[in-house]
Amino acid sequence: MEIIRHELQRPSVFINEAKLSIDYVPPTLPHREEHLRKLTQLFRGVIEAPGHVSQKVLLVGDTGSGKTSVTKLFGKLLTEIAQGHGFNLVYIHVNARRERTEYMILNKILSALQTGIPLRGLSTQELLSIILEFIETNNLYLLITLDELGVFLKRCGEELLYLLSRTVDDQLNAQQRVSLIGISRSPLFGYILDPSTWSTLQKNLIQFNRYNSLQLRDILNYRVKEAVLDGAVPESTIDLITDIAGTSGDARYALSLLYHAGKAADEKGVLRILPEFVRSAKAFTTPEIRREVLLDLSLHQKFLLLAVCRLLKPSEDAYVKTGELEARYRLVCEENGQTPRAHTQIWTYVQDLVGLGILSSKLSGIGQRGKTTLIGLPDIPAVVLERELELQIEKKKVGGSR
Ligand SMILES: Nc1ncnc2c1ncn2[C@@H]1O[C@H](COP(=O)(O)OP(=O)(O)OP(=O)(O)O)[C@@H](O)[C@H]1O
Ligand SMILES: [Mg+2]
Repeated sequence: MEIIRHELQRPSVFINEAKLSIDYVPPTLPHREEHLRKLTQLFRGVIEAPGHVSQKVLLVGDTGSGKTSVTKLFGKLLTEIAQGHGFNLVYIHVNARRERTEYMILNKILSALQTGIPLRGLSTQELLSIILEFIETNNLYLLITLDELGVFLKRCGEELLYLLSRTVDDQLNAQQRVSLIGISRSPLFGYILDPSTWSTLQKNLIQFNRYNSLQLRDILNYRVKEAVLDGAVPESTIDLITDIAGTSGDARYALSLLYHAGKAADEKGVLRILPEFVRSAKAFTTPEIRREVLLDLSLHQKFLLLAVCRLLKPSEDAYVKTGELEARYRLVCEENGQTPRAHTQIWTYVQDLVGLGILSSKLSGIGQRGKTTLIGLPDIPAVVLERELELQIEKKKVGGSR
């Protein structure tokens, strides 16, 4: 008790750490005013003539360029504006990496609507019908964002997007109640989207460019004001973070460096986030480790990744064999008091992780007896990933959120 009390009383550089958390969306987004304006123009009809028009928009841009934040902020503001216009618009943000199947996505939409309808045992088609019926009966309008649309289309195909965007086409004079925003890092070339959805999305495409160093500086200064003690971040620290994150133009990376540098300052009991803390934060924060991607993985996927790290770290080999991996994974499970998953399930996990680009796989080459699949880490140092995973697993045990 004493230890905990003492720790809680220790001064911190943060005034509100939550303002740097992943799910927090700031009330203004510097350098994204133009994107909000463009979205508003595209949705003007939905607000001015509800039921007569619906809209489909695609947001495309590199990682950390503000796509998710802009959309969430826009959804919130549009909901308020709709209320002012006397109708109910419900904004639902679905992350298709988290909601992995069509069923899970529809489920998420339905629970956001708080229908109170028990959902067990329903088919995808039934779920969709219930949603449409519910919004019709209750006179609601939906703005649904499918975030990580590229990941979703790759995994599940385009059926759901098609169904959602065609909800009203079959009924003459039907109220147009469902609008869609898709978010993707790539412009979705190569998917066989149906021609009408495709042409609308391409016409209503909003491009997000990487932030340049000056823009990152503004963003950092603004987020520092919200989250950190006044005067605790010297200009030299902001300079260093902008220099490091400037090459990728990734605001998430910049903010993550700030957050971890702040944590390092707290650990050392120093009430200033000095450049040295940024340097040490950089050593274990790389833009390739997309912490959010890792956070969304299941516990056993994390165990599996941890096993890869532990095998690769002390080894001279660039790859591990699946047999070794499975054995090591069992050890990690044991260490964490969990029952290991079956062989086929482990294999599915590996394929999922390869699909997400966290692992790479190849077949063993000539000269090795029998063909086996080799698993590697394409771009993340094993020590860095190991540390991140251990932190996440530990936090999960104590119920932390970051
Ligand atoms: N203009 C901005 N002002 C303040 N904070 C920002 C701004 N743009 C992005 N951020 C912050 O940077 C982080 C990353 O932004 P966001 O999640 O919107 O990026 P994204 O384009 O969706 O990236 P990804 O493709 O990786 O999902 C978030 O924490 C967000 O709050
Ligand atoms: Mg995003």
